[in-house]
Amino acid sequence: MAGRTVLGICGSLRRGSYNAALLDLVDGLSGGFRVVGSDLAGRLPLFNPDVENDEEAWPEAVREFRALAEEADGVVIATPEYAHGPAGATKNALDWLVGSGGLVGRPTLLVSASPGQAGGMRAHAPLMPTLTLLGAVLVDCVVVSRAGARTDGDGRYTDPAVVDRVRLAVGELEEALGYAASKRTQSVL
Ligand SMILES: Cc1cc2nc3c(=O)[nH]c(=O)nc-3n(C[C@H](O)[C@H](O)[C@H](O)COP(=O)(O)O)c2cc1C
Repeated sequence: MAGRTVLGICGSLRRGSYNAALLDLVDGLSGGFRVVGSDLAGRLPLFNPDVENDEEAWPEAVREFRALAEEADGVVIATPEYAHGPAGATKNALDWLVGSGGLVGRPTLLVSASPGQAGGMRAHAPLMPTLTLLGAVLVDCVVVSRAGARTDGDGRYTDPAVVDRVRLAVGELEEALGYAASKRTQSVL
C-alpha cells in the first residue's frame, strides 16, 4: 500500500503557489501513497508532436514525466484558474500524456485553489473532456476559495475546513487506488 505512487501535476509555476501547497497537503494527509513528480509539469516544454515523435530529443523533464506517469497508480492535478479556464501548464502536461497510453484507469483527484470566491472551480469543467479522453477515473474535485486566508505565513493550509475536505478526498483516492489494484490482480489471475 505505502509503495503506491500518485503523479502530481501542478499547473502553477508561481513561488508560494496555493495549488502547489494543496499538492503538499494531499501528500501529507496520505498514508497510502506518495505524490511524485509535482515539480515536472512546470518544467515541460510546450507540447510539440515533432519533439514527441523523436524520443532521442526528449528533454529530461519529458522523459521523467512520461516515466512517472506510466508507473503511477493514480494522479492528482492541482490547477490554478486563469481567465476562467485552467492554467496552460495544466493542459500542456496532459497533452504530453496523450501519446503514452494516457491515464487509462488511473484514479484521479482534481483540486484547485484561488484567492477568489470560486476557488478555481471554472478551471475544472474544461478539463473534463481531456481527462475522459485520457481514460482517467475522476474520484473527486476539491476547490479552495479565499486561499490566502486559509494558509499560514509559510503558505501551509491551516484552516480545519480545508484540511478535513482534502482528507476526505485523499480517503476517496486511496479507496479507488485499492479497488484499481484489486482489479489488476483479478485480471492476471
Ligand atoms: C492573469 C491572471 C488571471 C487570473 N484569472 C483568475 C480567474 O479567472 N479566476 C480566479 O479565481 N483567479 C484568477 N487569477 C488569480 C489566481 O487564482 C491566483 O493568482 C492564484 O494564486 C494562482 O494559483 P497559484 O497560487 O497556485 O499560483 C488570475 C491571476 C492572473 C495573474
